[in-house]
Amino acid sequence: MWLKYLFTFIILTVLISLTGAQSNIPIYDVRLKNLMTMQQGIGWPLQLRVVKGLEALLRLSSSEANNQNCEVLTPSGLQFNVNSPPSGRFESWSGGCGVRVKNVESSDAGRWRLTFTSGNNSITGWSELHVEEDTPSYKPVDPISLQDGQTHAEVELTTLQNSYCLVTQPFSESTLVPGHCQVTLDRTTRAVQGRWNVVLGIPGRVSELEVDRNIAVETEQLASGYREDSAKLHLYCNVLHTHKNITFCRFQKNSETSGFNIMDGLSDGRYSYYGDGFKKKNCGMTIETPAANDYITWRCSVGLQEWRGTTVVQSTPMQALIRVPPKTNSASRQGGENDDVRTLFVEKDSPFTIMCRAEASLAYCWFQHPNGSQFTPVERQDGDERDFRYTGDSLQIGDCGITFAHVTDEDVGVWTCHMGPRNQLGVEETDRVNVKVTGPLAANNKEVAVNDGGAAILYCHTSNGRRPLDYCRFLSPNNVGFSIDSSVKEENAILGRFYFTPERSLDCGDCSLTISSVLDEDIGEWTCAGLLHDNTAESKDTLVLYANSKRRQPLSTASIAGMSVGLIVLACVLAGTVWYKKGKPIPWRRVTYSARADNVSLQLSGPRSSNDSSSSNEQPQPRP
Ligand SMILES: *[C@@H]1O[C@H](CO)[C@@H](O)[C@H](O)[C@H]1NC(C)=O
Ligand SMILES: *[C@@H]1O[C@H](CO)[C@@H](O)[C@H](O)[C@H]1NC(C)=O
Ligand SMILES: *[C@@H]1O[C@H](CO)[C@@H](O)[C@H](O)[C@H]1NC(C)=O
Repeated sequence: MWLKYLFTFIILTVLISLTGAQSNIPIYDVRLKNLMTMQQGIGWPLQLRVVKGLEALLRLSSSEANNQNCEVLTPSGLQFNVNSPPSGRFESWSGGCGVRVKNVESSDAGRWRLTFTSGNNSITGWSELHVEEDTPSYKPVDPISLQDGQTHAEVELTTLQNSYCLVTQPFSESTLVPGHCQVTLDRTTRAVQGRWNVVLGIPGRVSELEVDRNIAVETEQLASGYREDSAKLHLYCNVLHTHKNITFCRFQKNSETSGFNIMDGLSDGRYSYYGDGFKKKNCGMTIETPAANDYITWRCSVGLQEWRGTTVVQSTPMQALIRVPPKTNSASRQGGENDDVRTLFVEKDSPFTIMCRAEASLAYCWFQHPNGSQFTPVERQDGDERDFRYTGDSLQIGDCGITFAHVTDEDVGVWTCHMGPRNQLGVEETDRVNVKVTGPLAANNKEVAVNDGGAAILYCHTSNGRRPLDYCRFLSPNNVGFSIDSSVKEENAILGRFYFTPERSLDCGDCSLTISSVLDEDIGEWTCAGLLHDNTAESKDTLVLYANSKRRQPLSTASIAGMSVGLIVLACVLAGTVWYKKGKPIPWRRVTYSARADNVSLQLSGPRSSNDSSSSNEQPQPRP
């Protein structure tokens, strides 16, 4: 029996002790029918982030609740009726059971409980309050760098936790991004470069956070140049902003064809690798004790490869020119070169190419037509769209060329090419090319001046570059025809004074006659003619040899040589002429021409037969 009393006593004690604790440990009147709603939390909002100093607004979501009998229990254990708050920091909020907590502090973090009592029913709900430190001023780090041409680049604009952001790219509309602030670019171009304005919605903050991000778009490029230190010359061509790997690194003097294969970690004692390694995309060469001829323009070539899917793809090597100025100042070298204008002989109606070269990497180049029009060939242009296109290896190595589909008579004249160097602003380099539209065989100079008794060179050659000739013949003003090739030399000159100009050749498209001493009868219009190996008809041109009586020009080395030979063979000439006029064969002619004696007809004098060749109607008139 006493056990029963003891049991009741224990129960009572426990009950009393529980009731007694009510002053500091809250006890909720939870009825089973309310349990579900309470556990789901009828406090609203369930979770709330508030930045220090802002206000928190908490309430019961129950529609029955009003601000009568609305009790608040703070995380620190303070309990009060919302209509009689202990301090001005709290006040009743909303028509229902709610509290407004002003100037939120760190100690406010935790679970807030609101209890509404009406008669025998009470509703309790809670809200979890998270107090955040204010993000004073968010300073994003370095600019975001993107690679030019990259596809589907993901740009992460912030590391902060944000619920949304509004992104404004330069010169475009704003985009609202839900969730983490990240933008995907279909294709990266330099147009997206610049300051992006980003407005972030951060949980716990009413005012949005505005940040500017700098976007830099970087293009794969070569940084090239040279450095000098104690008796060493370093050349470098480093690849910047690339994900490709270097496969080779080569340096070459721009004027030579062979170069140096430079490998990371390799040296032959004089030439060695320079830089921080292929891994860092550095390609460089050190020359120990450089010689004077190392101070020249160098060309570097860097081979690159990358992964595309599962295969390794070689990409076009990148190249650049490095101009290393000579140690001793010899700046007067350029002046003379600019004066002589190159001449380009183009066959009528054929395509033609004007080529200029700079000793520096170019950013662009353009051409000025003799009539003033401008033409700018662009490297990556598709050829067929226009009637001209870029020609050359690349602007990077200083090649500036243009090819036109057809030459017309309007294109005759002096063209100027303008070359804009890379990494250097200012005056463009220029070069001039004289374009002549001719037949397949053209006289280099239409007029040749000669001093009385001096030497002259009558030079014809193929147009559109060097094309082999099957034969070469000349017709003099007084209708003497010569068929010559390079086997006719000074020592076996025809009539003692006509021979093929040394160091020229039919195979290279030259038809060139040297007259060692010009006589009166040579003055006048000459015809040169020849058959191009690929052609079916003979080609020819005319040129005029005239006496330069006004002023004695200094003799060229060729004419001096010609004259000395002329003096030596003068006797022979006279003898030869006499011999020929007597109708005797010329002994030396027979020797020289023995190899082709049967297909060469040498007409040394006398009228040409009318059916001799198609040129008969264009025979030069006899000299007046
Ligand atoms: C409250 O409960 C008591 C006793 O259980 C009951 O008599 C009374 O009617 C109830 N009041 C309301 C408003 O339900
Ligand atoms: C580039 O080099 C890295 C590291 O050496 C290597 O993992 C990668 O496969 C290389 N890529 C190509 C295309 O060779
Ligand atoms: C100059 O010549 C080019 C090529 O023949 C032609 O296209 C252009 O119209 C000409 N320009 C002028 C101003 O005559």
